[in-house]
Amino acid sequence: MADIVISCSGAKHITKKIAKKLKVSYSELSVNKFPDNEFNINFPKSVKGKNVFLIQSFYGNINEKIVETLFAGYTAKDLGAKKVNLVALYFPYIRQDRRFHPGECVSGKVIFKMFSVFDNISIVEPHLHRIKNIKGFSSKAKRIAVSEDIALYLKNKNIKNAVFIGPDIESKQWIAHVTKFLGKKPLVLRKERFAARKVRVKIHGKYDIKGKDIIIIDDIISTGHTMLETIKLIKKLKAKRIYCIAIHGIFADNALKKLRKYAKVITCNTIPNPVTKINIANTIAKSLK
Ligand code: R5P
Repeated sequence: MADIVISCSGAKHITKKIAKKLKVSYSELSVNKFPDNEFNINFPKSVKGKNVFLIQSFYGNINEKIVETLFAGYTAKDLGAKKVNLVALYFPYIRQDRRFHPGECVSGKVIFKMFSVFDNISIVEPHLHRIKNIKGFSSKAKRIAVSEDIALYLKNKNIKNAVFIGPDIESKQWIAHVTKFLGKKPLVLRKERFAARKVRVKIHGKYDIKGKDIIIIDDIISTGHTMLETIKLIKKLKAKRIYCIAIHGIFADNALKKLRKYAKVITCNTIPNPVTKINIANTIAKSLK
């Protein structure tokens, strides 16, 4: 059980809610910069002898957030915390889970070595692909599942007769849970990625989605190209309303504006953005008990 929940710079939008659910002390890590850009990190409340949970979300300047979080982890230990745990609302670099080109850094593996100071690392829906279990990256890591939060949100919206689409094979791990909860079957498409901003999405077989509402579910919307290509495809098949649902809304390259031309976009609140309609604070609090 947590004694204190502390927000790092990327998690101020949710940490207070988590502390409130857990009925434990809340604090904000003080993060300042010296004139030369070096960080000055400070814990305003004592962490001595406590089971500390640091909450962080690695969006925006993720590399700075990595340094901040490492400084915080080591400092909490140095200040005598009993245990120092990290809860990552969005954890970066996991998609680089192997060396795709000669000489390349397998950043997904390196990052867990860097974070070995933490006693436990809980990650909201990490993007697992070739390494199927988060324990394959680190025995200290644990996944926090939020498919049920998405399913409940959709259930309450009462969108009838919708077709559920996953844009690629990895999306199956999320969409299958959501649709199981709702008593539906998903349609999982195939995606080829040629570059960070170039993907092709294909549908195999014939599907009658004419005039139907479509709910596309994926874990991450980054540049939005995966969603945009999927939308292009289903628009050709004359779908009616389109909903794009994601856990982590990064929205690089103005992706939200581009997507909103065609679809209603909704995400969980792992990363602050204008469409965080699915609040997962409760699920996180439960997972920390
Ligand atoms: C990767 O396969 C992920 O599940 C997402 O599909 C991907 O990160 C989305 O990226 P983008 O929005 O840049 O296409």
